[in-house]
Amino acid sequence: MKWANALWLLPAVLRSAYAARDYDAHDYYAVHLSPDILPENLASHLGLDYDGPLGNLADHHVFRTSRSHGHDHIQTALKDLKRRRRKRDVGWDEPHVLDNVLLSQKQELHKRFPLVKRSALPPLEREEYHWRRQNDRPKVIDSSVQKGLDMAAELEINDPIFQEQWHLYNHVQTGHDINVTGVWSQGITGKNATISIVDDGLDMDSDDLKENYFAKGSYDFNDAVEDPKPRLSDDKHGTRCAGEVSAVRNGVCGVGVAYDSKVAGERILSKVISDADEAVAMNYAFQDNHIYSCSWGPSDNGEAMERPGILIRRAMVNGVQKGRDGLGSIYVFAIGNGAANDDDCNFDGYTNSIYSVSVGGIDRKGLHPYYSEKCSAQLVVTYSSGSGDAIHTTDVGKDACYTNHGGTSAAGPLVAGIYALMLEANPKLNWRDFQYITALTAVKVDQPSDWELNKALGKEFSHQYGYGKADAYAMVEMAKTWKNVKPQAWLWSPWQHVRHEIPQGDKGLASKFTVTKEMLKKANFERVEHVTVIMNVEHMRRGDLSVELRSPSGMVSHIATHRRKDNAHSGYVDWEFMSVAHWGEDGVGDWTVVVKDTKVDSNSGTFTDWRLKLWGESIDGDKQELLPLPNEYDDDDHDREDANVGTTSVAVPTVTGQPEGNPTDHIDRPVNIKTSTTATPEPSPTDVPSEEDSAASPSPSASSGPNFLPHPFPTFGASKHTQIWIYGSAVLIVAFLAGIGGWWYYMRRKRQRWMSRDEYGFEMVEHDDIEDEDGKVGGSRRNKRAGELYDAFAEGSDEETPFDLGSESERDSDDEDAGGHRKEAYRDVDQGGESR
Ligand SMILES: *[C@@H]1O[C@H](CO)[C@@H](O)[C@H](O)[C@H]1NC(C)=O
Ligand SMILES: *[C@@H]1O[C@H](CO)[C@@H](O)[C@H](O)[C@H]1NC(C)=O
Repeated sequence: MKWANALWLLPAVLRSAYAARDYDAHDYYAVHLSPDILPENLASHLGLDYDGPLGNLADHHVFRTSRSHGHDHIQTALKDLKRRRRKRDVGWDEPHVLDNVLLSQKQELHKRFPLVKRSALPPLEREEYHWRRQNDRPKVIDSSVQKGLDMAAELEINDPIFQEQWHLYNHVQTGHDINVTGVWSQGITGKNATISIVDDGLDMDSDDLKENYFAKGSYDFNDAVEDPKPRLSDDKHGTRCAGEVSAVRNGVCGVGVAYDSKVAGERILSKVISDADEAVAMNYAFQDNHIYSCSWGPSDNGEAMERPGILIRRAMVNGVQKGRDGLGSIYVFAIGNGAANDDDCNFDGYTNSIYSVSVGGIDRKGLHPYYSEKCSAQLVVTYSSGSGDAIHTTDVGKDACYTNHGGTSAAGPLVAGIYALMLEANPKLNWRDFQYITALTAVKVDQPSDWELNKALGKEFSHQYGYGKADAYAMVEMAKTWKNVKPQAWLWSPWQHVRHEIPQGDKGLASKFTVTKEMLKKANFERVEHVTVIMNVEHMRRGDLSVELRSPSGMVSHIATHRRKDNAHSGYVDWEFMSVAHWGEDGVGDWTVVVKDTKVDSNSGTFTDWRLKLWGESIDGDKQELLPLPNEYDDDDHDREDANVGTTSVAVPTVTGQPEGNPTDHIDRPVNIKTSTTATPEPSPTDVPSEEDSAASPSPSASSGPNFLPHPFPTFGASKHTQIWIYGSAVLIVAFLAGIGGWWYYMRRKRQRWMSRDEYGFEMVEHDDIEDEDGKVGGSRRNKRAGELYDAFAEGSDEETPFDLGSESERDSDDEDAGGHRKEAYRDVDQGGESR
């Protein structure tokens, strides 16, 4: 069938990359289909119209019907089939066209959360913010000013606002710029690199952008037309971002960081967009669009905790695997402007994705602007608004310039522009090479922060500044001679079941997982790049929680921080936190998660479970397979006995971390054992959303076929009906006995488990052991046992774990004063009204 499929796709590819959708007239369904079936077959079976492939996601398709409010045709059909199979109208082993539906999602235009531009800033809470740019200006032309004028002359830049573009060359606070002029003077200006500005439009008619505009990579997803022309009065953000990257050197306004690069526009922020269309946007023209610059995300109100839907997450994996001819699309995200709201970019599923580079801000004096969020997923910072000035760039309209572009929205595109320069210097860089070079060349920001040395990289990391500020010259120089890193490998631990109440106050509850050399070797894993931790924590007030991750080297990532405005009752549900602070470590040893609930009040909680995922460079690149596309329920399997098998066996080199022969010591409730462990990279059918558990489908042989029994069973000469009766009763009796036995065994295990818990205990880590409130431990390394750590695999072993605390560096020192514990009236999440 595959050939037929391929033949059919040909004209579609030739026709158009994207079919315009009309959500007023139609309902749309995004469907992941098995490659064994033509999408037309499904369409005709269900009476749907086939709308075409879903962007560049293989085997994903879009179907449509006329608008029918509330009704989901495909889920209804799937349920109906299940019902008919239960009633035996259709055999369980009888193939059915619907069995090819691997995932189906009706597209909604009212999303769970709106995407917010990261330019408008929240009200200033702590810092005076005056426009005193004029006062900062020197009265006489000094040597720095002269140097800027000479440089412009040498580079033939006669754009009128170039001297105001201090982020390119700062003649007032010298050194506080991206250090790009030395790159330009080598003739490296972004040629052959294309940046797509995924935003609210791009004024392709602007004289400052026209010449670099790349129509082929552009699309207006909001109004379903080719050109992403700004149409609403506030559709200006995208054009300003585009100017920062790619404004032409031509005597109009200023210049972009990569002023000879191509720039595309994808308009997605001006109306609500469906997940399917956003997924298409993330892969749009992904052989030609190299870098996707995204200055938006979920609200930064300090209450939201949102991640992109499964189609968008798949599109990002697809992008890094297939975009740019397999070198990978580069996703650059603004980190978020919610620092004054205690927001943390690890609560945003775009910025904490391993596939995105998250960029924070510093201002023209090199200070931390009050808005720029901090988090362990932040790789780098660069210049934006603060200390009396902002970014000067192109605006919507003829010859229009803008002097007040700010927030982390303005920082992200500067890094995207530097990436375009790197791409010209070395077009073969893969998506992870960009991240390596960014971390390795970042220049430490000369400000007090929670700087901590990453010994493996020889670089200091801070949650406020990442590895420091981007230096275009250093990045391009390193790019020129950079040798590609080998393909990505990964090692995922099994679920670590903790199920223990979190102590309140300054204590923490710790759990660790030990990674051995053998595990890494088996996983073809050489060294760590990203680390993610997926957690389930129940808590009555989510904002009270904080979580640290300690690596074997003693480096600490604050993967979750408390948020004073976050009143959600939901805790963390399968949330994946990310850290780039452990980049370069070998990964061997104890990885410890410490959960804290610092507020002593009636809002309490339980640390349920967690799993560690190490992502890094492979040992043998030729043996390394690509990560399968994620499934919605990949991390939902923590209650199954075979959790680690079901999840990690999809990839051959992955090691589960479960010591061989060790009984599964983390079952303490009955589990549904999956009948088969999917050993192929194909997504398993369990990712079809349905309220019924896949384990509910009985084995096909039990209900169908003329041969009721395989031949070794005696038939007693009875009729088939009687046989069923005899064997049925026997089976029932056996099942009953097995049930009693199982229950007894389960209770015994449970008792043993609790006894062993009592023995080893969950001793709470004392306050001064884990964290000194003032962060002052005097820098001395203390080797102190901070109580026993619960270790799911250490039960029965009496080895005690020394807990090396290392030196605590200061953190949170600058924002605790802002009423970190101030009472806030409960505010309904009103993200829609938020404009930043
Ligand atoms: C900035 O660029 C200059 C060359 O123009 C270079 O000498 C200098 O080292 C760069 N700064 C850093 C931190 O690399
Ligand atoms: C741009 O790409 C084309 C085609 O791949 C190549 O021939 C040309 O040399 C490149 N130009 C630069 C400046 O890298």
